Amino acid sequence: MSYTVCVVYHSGYGHTARQAEAVSEGAGSVDGVTCSTIPVEDLFDSESASWATLDGANAIIIGCPTYMGSPSSAMKQFMEASSGRWMEQKWADKLAAGFTNSGSQNGDKQNTLVDIATFAAQHGMVWINLNLMPGNNSSGGSIEDLNRLGASLGAMAQSNVDQGPEHGPTDADLKTATALGKRVAESAKRWG
Ligand SMILES: Cc1cc2nc3c(=O)[nH]c(=O)nc-3n(C[C@H](O)[C@H](O)[C@H](O)COP(=O)(O)O)c2cc1C
Repeated sequence: MSYTVCVVYHSGYGHTARQAEAVSEGAGSVDGVTCSTIPVEDLFDSESASWATLDGANAIIIGCPTYMGSPSSAMKQFMEASSGRWMEQKWADKLAAGFTNSGSQNGDKQNTLVDIATFAAQHGMVWINLNLMPGNNSSGGSIEDLNRLGASLGAMAQSNVDQGPEHGPTDADLKTATALGKRVAESAKRWG
C-alpha cells in the first residue's frame, strides 16, 4: 500500500522554503510514502491540479513564516480558498501537521502553529504533533539540539533577519523539520 503526504508552504524570501524542503525530505524518507511539495501560490488558481493532489493526500503538512505574529497573508489566502472543501468536509480524517519560521527566537511563532492547527481542526483533520523533547533547556543543552526552540505543536525554526536563506534556518531547525516530516509519514502508514 502506498501513502501520500503533501507539504503546502509559503515563503516570502526563501527561509521557510528551506524548512519545507527539510520536512519533505523527512516525509519522503519513509518507505512506501510519496511526498509532494506545493508552494501555496500554486493553489491561488482554483483550477490548479494541485488542489486534486491535496484532495488525494493522506496527510497535509502546512508551513509558513510568522509575519506580524500570525501566518503570512499568502497562507491565509490558501486557508480561505479551502472553504469550499470545508463546506463538504472533504479533508476530514486526513492527517495534518504544521511548521513555521521567524526572525526572532520566540517571534510569536506559537500563534502561527495554533492558527494552522485550528484550520486543520475546522477541516476535521487529525493533528500530528512534533513529539520531540525540548532541546537547549539545560546546562548541558546547546543551540545544536533537536527542537532547540522547544515546540510541541509543530516544528519551529528561526532565521536571522539580516541573512539570506543560505544561512538560515539553522541546521538544528532543519533537522527538527525533517523529524516532523518523518513522523507524519510514519503516522500516515499507521492510520492512513
Ligand atoms: C511582514 C513581515 C512580518 C514579520 N513579522 C515577524 C514576527 O511577527 N515575528 C518574527 O519573529 N519575525 C517576523 N518577521 C521576520 C520573518 O519571519 C523572517 O524574516 C522569516 O525568516 C521570513 O521567512 P521567509 O523568508 O520564508 O519569508 C516578519 C517579516 C516580515 C516580512
